[in-house]
Amino acid sequence: MDILNIAPLKYENDKLLILDQTLLPGKTEYLEINTKEDVWDAIHKLRVRGAPAIGVAAAYGLYVSAKNIQTDNRDEFIKSFKEIKDYLASSRPTAVNLFWALDRVEKCIYELGDASVNTIKSAIFEEAEKIRKEDEEACYAMGEYGLSLLKPEMGILTHCNAGTIATAKYGTCLAPLYVGHEQGYNFKVFADETRPLLQGARLTSWELNQAGIDVTLICDNMASIVMKNGWIDAVLVGCDRMAANGDGANKIGTSAVAVLAKEYNIPFYMFVPTSTIDLNTKSGADIHIELRNGEEIYKMWYEKDMAPEGIKTYNPAFDVTDAKYITAVITEKGIVYPPYDENLKNLFV
Ligand code: MRU
Repeated sequence: MDILNIAPLKYENDKLLILDQTLLPGKTEYLEINTKEDVWDAIHKLRVRGAPAIGVAAAYGLYVSAKNIQTDNRDEFIKSFKEIKDYLASSRPTAVNLFWALDRVEKCIYELGDASVNTIKSAIFEEAEKIRKEDEEACYAMGEYGLSLLKPEMGILTHCNAGTIATAKYGTCLAPLYVGHEQGYNFKVFADETRPLLQGARLTSWELNQAGIDVTLICDNMASIVMKNGWIDAVLVGCDRMAANGDGANKIGTSAVAVLAKEYNIPFYMFVPTSTIDLNTKSGADIHIELRNGEEIYKMWYEKDMAPEGIKTYNPAFDVTDAKYITAVITEKGIVYPPYDENLKNLFV
């Protein structure tokens, strides 16, 4: 299996198919998505996950849902479209790509003036296709920029999964590993398992293993020892939303890895396509962090409960890495260094 040909979603024979990432690594199975409820559920339950892939899925999801609106009246259509858009926006709160993609599709409708409902429906599909293609190109560009920071034989630590199935293709922080692998870089990658939903164990170690890249799975609490052992030369992570000041929300546990990396003098690189940068969010304190059901911590992956019944839990899905811990931000437009409050906004001029 060529892992880079496993897409998180496909549009084939007029059907949207989403790779059910909750079944990985055991099964590679695509789910047919027919309604707005199917789209919402797939995003909410992390069947499709990873900020860029959520954005792409939301765009195609809007098309699939809008296709079902039964009216030729433009105003009625737009009213129903907005309801669907608001509904899909409630599926998950943190990854800004969700809102970015929904807004972008809406904007393309307004740009059409008073076009017919059928023309609008086709334009929504075209915009979803554009978002997907642009994300693929952005990821490849991040792969090349990211690789320019790395050397052959390096030891790399990554957290969560910011790989090919989290994006249209290639991934964000895993893209340089794929590009480098083709050039014989021979990286030694350590993948944090990423509790509680195990994106590192189930997805990253599977992806890299399929690609033939040397990958070692560790528990999250082993990041310090591998750094202290001198096995890590760089930390590469993705991002769900980067605020204007360079604070970046990513999978829970990322900030702990960043603090450790600083202590051990290891560069910490965050891979952030411009679709994940939210200049309207001032700092990390303004990012809405998703809280999930505590049963994910002690029930979900176990035959028996691993905590007393009724135990109090706290299960934030993301944390914010303060800008001061981020050595550089890798975007598709280039590598950005501090001061981030100055340099991030220059990407958009
Ligand atoms: O909860 P998830 O699996 O959607 O969280 C994903 C992450 O935190 C990724 O690192 C981030 O979205 C970047 S994906 C290229």
